[in-house]
Amino acid sequence: MTESVRIVEVGPRDGLQNEKTPVSVADRIAFIEALVDAGLHTIEVGAFVSPKAIPQMVNSDQVLRGVDHHASSEFHVLVPNEKGYEAARAAGAKVIAVFASASEGFSRANINCSVAESIERFKPVIDKAKADAVRVRGYISCVLGCPFDGEVKPQAVADVAKVLWDLGCYEISLGDTIGVGTPLKARQLLRAVSGVVPMTNLAMHFHDTYGQALANLYAGMEEGARVIDSAAGGLGGCPFAPGATGNVATEDVVYMLEGMGIATGVDMQKLVAATNAVSRLIGRPPLSRVAGAMNAKQRLAN
Ligand code: HMG
Ligand code: MG
Repeated sequence: MTESVRIVEVGPRDGLQNEKTPVSVADRIAFIEALVDAGLHTIEVGAFVSPKAIPQMVNSDQVLRGVDHHASSEFHVLVPNEKGYEAARAAGAKVIAVFASASEGFSRANINCSVAESIERFKPVIDKAKADAVRVRGYISCVLGCPFDGEVKPQAVADVAKVLWDLGCYEISLGDTIGVGTPLKARQLLRAVSGVVPMTNLAMHFHDTYGQALANLYAGMEEGARVIDSAAGGLGGCPFAPGATGNVATEDVVYMLEGMGIATGVDMQKLVAATNAVSRLIGRPPLSRVAGAMNAKQRLAN
């Protein structure tokens, strides 16, 4: 079993990209600063994608420029192509994430090209990033099922993972975009992909649509995976993945890890406060079970 875990907080990007209520640049920056203050140091803060595709992520350059760049903080942004890379670089990005899919249907819906074409698009982005000493993370979506193509074989994921790894991504994040995975499938997936990318360089990015994300993470940790993507409050989803709900909630992940004796360095009270603040902005309560329990306890105490 993994003994230490690194959390990649994706709330300000994955969390907000699917929300109907727009969140201002100032509020996005305040959310990120609150997450940093709660002890989360690796945070995905925005996306340099087409504003027609994801209007929620417009002005990600202002967000990236506006956040306090502490020495201990690492801010990531999504980049789909060279245009996005140039904008991200101009805004001072030091870590970018390219995003591919294991299935053709989702690739087409999300980034309007085939999986092979997306890899061709990423090549010049990764080359430029290397020249600029910008680190590149690689996402693969639909690793446990696709809303358009159905079942996705672990081998299909491993094939894309190998290509992204060979191109120079330092970490491959495995996205259960529509949250359909179950623990044994998550385990088989990690076994297959760790045959081509070291387990230490794999991240688990599990959405919680069917309530399986924590169990899937635990199964992955038993295999030795030790990087977890999560979103404060269980925010998240992708407008191009019909029916998908949020990422596994950071509060729930932190609660599980601390309960297993794995220190996270996260201050739960501060994290729940950050979640509550963003929940008020978007006008709905957090999906996180832990935030819900702590808020209920607080109400009873008052
Ligand atoms: P396209 O229409 O094929 O691209 O979109 P294009 O090159 O033909 O350009 C079309 C228009 O977009 C042009 O503007 C471009 O300038 C503009 P127009 O001339 O029509 O006014 N454009 C851009 N604008 C700003 N930044 C850019 C950019 N590129 C082109 N970088 C494209 C292809 C990839 C751009 C588009 O489909 C897109 O932006 N898709 C992003 C979709 C997205 O962000 N999805 C959510 C993130 S992925 C996710 O959530 C999954 C993940 O969480 C893991 C998991 O859970 O599985 C990561
Ligand atoms: Mg996601």
